[in-house]
Amino acid sequence: MTPLIEVVDLVKTYTDGTQALRGASFVIQEGEFVAIMGPSGSGKSTLLHILGFLDPQTSGIYKFTGKLFQDFTPSELARVRNEELGFVFQQFNLMPRQTVLENIYMPLYYSSVPKKEWRTRAEKVVAQVGLSHRIDHEAYTLSGGEKQRVAIARALINKPKLIFADEPTGNLDTKSGTDVMELLKALHTLGHTIILITHDQKIANHARRMLFIQDGRLQSDTEI
Ligand SMILES: Nc1ncnc2c1ncn2[C@@H]1O[C@H](COP(=O)(O)OP(=O)(O)O)[C@@H](O)[C@H]1O
Ligand SMILES: [Mg+2]
Repeated sequence: MTPLIEVVDLVKTYTDGTQALRGASFVIQEGEFVAIMGPSGSGKSTLLHILGFLDPQTSGIYKFTGKLFQDFTPSELARVRNEELGFVFQQFNLMPRQTVLENIYMPLYYSSVPKKEWRTRAEKVVAQVGLSHRIDHEAYTLSGGEKQRVAIARALINKPKLIFADEPTGNLDTKSGTDVMELLKALHTLGHTIILITHDQKIANHARRMLFIQDGRLQSDTEI
């Protein structure tokens, strides 16, 4: 089976000379729930930016669905980013004055999904994250935990192959953080592939596999 993600000797050196990744290699299969764990500055976000097609590596191989990163044309990259990847960030990145529904619609503006399907799709994902009763509320009125669940619904709307969550509980209290992790676990059970980025061992323990990264190198790869 072709792995969803394959990286070999991935290196990222920033223009100022910082060696954020010094040769990481691993494979992630469709359907996995993987935590990329490591201390602050270890290269986690750098890795996420490469895997999420947001920034190219300096050297090494990155294959997504068997295809080399450099073989994707700019329009293919844009399509993959929009339709095959979902992103959830620590800061939620919602538009505060827009409603939950309008926030969830955002990725659809750049997709090929016909407009008449938008409402049905949005209602499905908003129900999945347990926020049907908030669908017409403006985002700024929601609690932190609710905002993150909206961000997860928005990440799901294009039925992505893979969801990236970068410190998704970083701005949440313990209870809301646990709820968000339970939601990610439920999505994994439904068949979603999830890559979770965290510096927190307790959060990483919700995943099924942990890649531990330090100083830009993979230190261990363990099943949880
Ligand atoms: N755009 C950048 N330019 C230069 N150095 C960077 C840049 N982004 C991150 N770094 C450096 O690369 C290293 C890894 O950073 P990062 O990937 O953000 O780690 P983490 O997400 O694990 O905290 C750090 O030393 C950081 O300061
Ligand atoms: Mg980071």
